[in-house]
Amino acid sequence: MTVVRRPDEEGLRRAAEILRAGSVVAFPTETVYGLGADAFTESAVAEIYRLKQRPSWNPLIVHVADVAAARALADVWPAAADELAARFWPGPLTMVVRRARHLPGIGAANDTVAVRVPAHDVALRLLRECGLPLAAPSANRSESISPTTAEHVRRSLPDVPLILDGGPCAWGIESTVVDLTDPVPVLLRPGALGLRELRDVTGTIGLPSSATADGTARPSPGMSRRHYAPRARAVLVPDVSDLSDLPPDAGVLTHEKAPYQGGAAKLEILSADPREYAADLYAALHRLDDAGVSTILIQSPPGSEEWLAVRDRLSRATAV
Ligand code: TXA
Ligand code: MG
Repeated sequence: MTVVRRPDEEGLRRAAEILRAGSVVAFPTETVYGLGADAFTESAVAEIYRLKQRPSWNPLIVHVADVAAARALADVWPAAADELAARFWPGPLTMVVRRARHLPGIGAANDTVAVRVPAHDVALRLLRECGLPLAAPSANRSESISPTTAEHVRRSLPDVPLILDGGPCAWGIESTVVDLTDPVPVLLRPGALGLRELRDVTGTIGLPSSATADGTARPSPGMSRRHYAPRARAVLVPDVSDLSDLPPDAGVLTHEKAPYQGGAAKLEILSADPREYAADLYAALHRLDDAGVSTILIQSPPGSEEWLAVRDRLSRATAV
């Protein structure tokens, strides 16, 4: 049975105690809720994989409180990592670097580790209180919609012993993952932090083809084709204004620039601003699922770069 607690002093103390005992705690970050455990204790990490039903090869991001703690996990800490950390940490950027040789690997990450310093007061206080680097994937069943509230976590993972409730996540979409193990940084997962901001610091960034297109390749080990998916069948459509023979129990997800006039059983209209859209996307998919619709017709988002992360998630949510 899950306990949902406010992240006050007592809540944080209890969470740290659970983590130090080798179990798991769900906590808020600025992107999505994470399911945390002591990153380098095998049994604790195994509990994450078990609860999420996550494939064992898919590695986890290690969360730390500051740059010094991140460096301590790295064998090589490239200059680009320093520059990116100075500019974007704490924040929604995950960097993959060569792992310190004394540390065990997580998942199939043979000689690398993914690190990030989250920009959320509760996450940072928890990291300091427990004194451990925390492996933390999004706190949802593998392949389903990521959680942006404590309630989403409770419903997706009812066996997590403790959830710290820090309210809704500000970004609402996962961190951007960049591989820094080669001289030219490579984007592994588009996310909250935009490519333009990244390029301002690193110059050229390698883009796996799937980051820009339909998500059929698998650049980052975790980027399986179907992911972030609602229970309902989700379909991308070029134009919601032109929907003929909509099933009576269908839902529609669109944005302000592409209004929909028809009689969908449940309608979600998100912002036409990509950041605001991303912030509410998972919550909207959860609401559509809660309404019990059989199908969700989703207006295709614009093709520009600011929409890259949203397009990536929608292509996976609608993959069959
Ligand atoms: O915003 C986020 O990043 C959230 C919050 C909780 O911090 N976490 C998150 O974790 O999204 P998860 O496990 O759902 O996604 C981690 C991604 C996966 O695509 C995984 O394959 C990739 O990061 N990853 C982790 N370690 C890696 C490594 N060593 N090399 C390459 N990719 C790695
Ligand atoms: Mg995830």
